[in-house]
Amino acid sequence: MGDTSATIVLAGATGDLGSRIGREVLQLGGQLRVLVRSGTAERLTAWITDEVDVREVDFTDTQALREACRGGSCVVSALSGLEPVVVEIQSRLLDAAVGAGVPRFIPSDFSIDFTKLPRGTNRNLDLRKNFQYRLEAAPIRATSVLNGMFTHLLNEEAPFIVRPIRRVIYWGSADQPLDFTTIDDTATFTARAALDTEAPRFLRIAGESLSARQLRDAATAATGDNYRLLHVGGVGLLSTLIDVTRLIVPRRGEVYPPWQGMQYMRNMYSGRAKLSPLDNARYPDIRWTPVAEVLARAQSTGE
Ligand SMILES: NC(=O)c1ccc[n+]([C@@H]2O[C@H](COP(=O)([O-])OP(=O)(O)OC[C@H]3O[C@@H](n4cnc5c(N)ncnc54)[C@H](OP(=O)(O)O)[C@@H]3O)[C@@H](O)[C@H]2O)c1
Repeated sequence: MGDTSATIVLAGATGDLGSRIGREVLQLGGQLRVLVRSGTAERLTAWITDEVDVREVDFTDTQALREACRGGSCVVSALSGLEPVVVEIQSRLLDAAVGAGVPRFIPSDFSIDFTKLPRGTNRNLDLRKNFQYRLEAAPIRATSVLNGMFTHLLNEEAPFIVRPIRRVIYWGSADQPLDFTTIDDTATFTARAALDTEAPRFLRIAGESLSARQLRDAATAATGDNYRLLHVGGVGLLSTLIDVTRLIVPRRGEVYPPWQGMQYMRNMYSGRAKLSPLDNARYPDIRWTPVAEVLARAQSTGE
């Protein structure tokens, strides 16, 4: 599976996920064209080889975008932002792909399963729904990759594992499975999906699905410390806290204000955004990185 003569047109190649997708397309032997906005091309790092077709383009100019997409077999978006990017710029990119006759499009979804969530429960995921509405109406074959939460966030801002007090905090049930995939595994899978002409509308992946109870065991195994569970409250209480945080610290112009992370956590602990069934086995050569491995890495590097 995988057409390596295909040209993958990648938007967002200067970003964290996009650069990894680009690298992986090259490793798979695919042809790569990256669309970067004027002034940020210097953010493209050492992975860009002479074979990569780098196009500086004005993302607000649909005609220029269309020319930049021409000849592509799949447009992959790894853009990140709020409405002006996720809905407006991505819509221009979609129109450009359709106008240029590109047969396939992978939107910048890369999240928990927003298709199963009611509107109003997650500001950022509502933007994906808004874009999805346009995508479904467009004459192009789309594939969304849904990967749960990036695993490394457990070592960073996501308040699941609280290292200083050696607790795994949870809302609702300690047995609710939660989906985690590393950013590298997500990129590896997405590059394969970009080259896979038979890829379906949705591909759902999880490097590992662990409940809070299993996260506790993973944290204990990874660190050698004895982690315990801490039940903070029900999902209803979390909703109240989200409302309060939103009032006190609105920061609406930020992509990830604290209340948005809390919304993500609520969606995960509610079980509504659980990914199922999983498509992990679609490309059998991928080795999925366990959560404990990522936690142990942070332990050894002191991240
Ligand atoms: N599931 C998860 O846990 C999780 C966590 C984090 C991210 N994500 C998702 O992964 C995807 C990629 O995120 P990321 O963290 O890799 O993002 P990132 O590192 O911030 O990169 C964003 C990319 O979007 C481009 N971009 C932003 N605004 C633009 C605009 N107005 N016009 C053109 N390009 C623009 C940036 O280009 P410039 O360099 O020119 O600014 C950059 O290439 C997003 O869908 C994000 O929501 C998922």
